[in-house]
Amino acid sequence: MYSIAIDGPAGAGKSTIAKTIAKKLGFVYVDTGAMYRAIALYFLRKGVDGKDAQTIEKMCPDIHVTLEYQDGEQQVLLNGENVSSFIRTEEVSAMASLTSAQPAVRAALLQLQRDMAKSADILMDGRDIGTHVLPNADLKIYLTASVSVRAKRRYQEMIEKGVSCELSEIEQDIKERDHQDMTREIAPLKKAEDAYLLDSSDLSIEEVVDAVITAFHEKTGA
Ligand code: DC
Repeated sequence: MYSIAIDGPAGAGKSTIAKTIAKKLGFVYVDTGAMYRAIALYFLRKGVDGKDAQTIEKMCPDIHVTLEYQDGEQQVLLNGENVSSFIRTEEVSAMASLTSAQPAVRAALLQLQRDMAKSADILMDGRDIGTHVLPNADLKIYLTASVSVRAKRRYQEMIEKGVSCELSEIEQDIKERDHQDMTREIAPLKKAEDAYLLDSSDLSIEEVVDAVITAFHEKTGA
């Protein structure tokens, strides 16, 4: 069983790249951010303050996140409800950034994510996969890009969806989220010592995909 861990900040292109690589290698792709987003949605719907550690801890046992695959696409189920189409809003992003810093939330997902890697060749992306979830992954990648490149990519995405937005606001938002993800006490975003650093600022998707696949073959001999 092989495992690949891809970590990095929001907007570095992790999910696009991870999906493509998983397809090429025939691995199962696990988007752990989507699991944190589903939990954030639960707390949003319940009107819970994302910083209220006590209430969050008390509610965690009531939350069950599972993943399913439809036509190879990951679907996230929150207590049996497919919430995949509700978790990509700005509101959920902001809440996920807060609630993913809560120890009870991280503990709830850690074992689930580790168990997934036991049953299939897996490519998992997130913030703490190489450092915490799969410390023995066969290949670890830390994928990043400059703040301005990530903001421009996000801006382009929103414009294509017909959503009006300000580039400067997106850039500010990315900086805030980086800060939250990198400075939290538990499992902060950082490069694992044995991870390959890939900066996608000046690379195309194909170039990043090729670099990861080459690194995988070189590292494992597979
Ligand atoms: O990658 P994303 O934007 O979908 O992640 C949503 C939030 O969850 C983001 O604030 C970071 C957090 N997250 C985390 O703390 N650990 C992970 N393994 C994945 C995501």
